[in-house]
Amino acid sequence: MSEALVWRLVPERATDEEVAAARALLAPEEREKADAFAREVDRRRSALVRAALRRAVGGALGLDPARVRLATGPRGKPLVADDPGLHVNASHTDALALVALSRAGPVGVDVERRRGDVEALDLARRYFAPAEAARLAALPAGERAGAFLRLWTRKEALLKAAGQGLGGGLDVATGDGPGWAAVDAPGLGAFWVSDLEVGAGHVAALAVGREACAAPLVVWVSP
Ligand SMILES: CC(C)(COP(=O)(O)OP(=O)(O)OC[C@H]1O[C@@H](n2cnc3c(N)ncnc32)[C@H](O)[C@@H]1OP(=O)(O)O)[C@@H](O)C(=O)NCCC(=O)NCCS
Repeated sequence: MSEALVWRLVPERATDEEVAAARALLAPEEREKADAFAREVDRRRSALVRAALRRAVGGALGLDPARVRLATGPRGKPLVADDPGLHVNASHTDALALVALSRAGPVGVDVERRRGDVEALDLARRYFAPAEAARLAALPAGERAGAFLRLWTRKEALLKAAGQGLGGGLDVATGDGPGWAAVDAPGLGAFWVSDLEVGAGHVAALAVGREACAAPLVVWVSP
C-alpha cells in the first residue's frame, strides 16, 4: 500500500540548540528567508519547518539533509530536485507545523488554528461553492466555524497538492466525512483528500494525487 508520511512539529518547544541545528541544514537563501521575518517566533519556526522538510526528504533518499536539493514550483510549491517522484509539502500556524511526504502522488497539507471568531458564512459565501455556503448556513451557529475550517483546510490541502495555492479556486469541492474522499477537481486533477486529527486546537487536512486506486496510508512520524 502507498503511504503518506506526516511529521507534527511544535516549534515553540524547540530549544535554541535545536533551532541552531535546523539553521545549519539550510541553504543560504533558506536561511535568508527565515532571518527576514520580523518576529523571532517566525524566524525560529521557518528554520525548523524547512529543516524538517529537508530531513524528511533526506531520510527518504538516504541523503544528508543539508545536501538535499529543493526547487520551487511556479507558485511557490517546494519540489524535490533530486527525485521528481518524491513529493513534499508543509504548513504551519504559530503553534503547530506539519510536513508531509509521499511517493503516491503530489501532496498538499494545511493546518489552521481552530477559532470561533472566523467569519464563516461571509467567507464561504465569497469563496466557496454556493451549495457549500448553503450547507454551512443550515448548521447551528456554534458548529459553523469548525465546519468552515474543515472545508477550508481540505480545499487548501488540495490546492497545495496541485501546486496552485489559493488562487486555484476555493470553490473546488473536496468531499466531506471521515476517511479519504476521492475527489476529481476540474482543471486540477484527481486527489485523495482527508481530514487529519491534530488535537483540539487545530484543524488540518491532507491531499495526495490519486495516481493509485487505493488511498494512501497516513503514517505519523516522530520528528
Ligand atoms: C500556498 C499558500 C496557499 C500557503 O498559504 P498559507 O496558509 O499562508 O501557508 P501554509 O503555512 O499553509 O503553507 C506554507 C508552505 O506551503 C508551501 N507552499 C508555498 N507555495 C505553495 C504552492 N503554490 N503550492 C503548494 N505548496 C506551497 C511552502 O512549503 C510554504 O512554506 P514556506 O512559507 O516556509 O515556504 C499561499 O501562500 C498561496 O496561495 N500561494 C500561491 C501564491 C501564488 O499563486 N503566487 C503566484 C506568483 S506568480
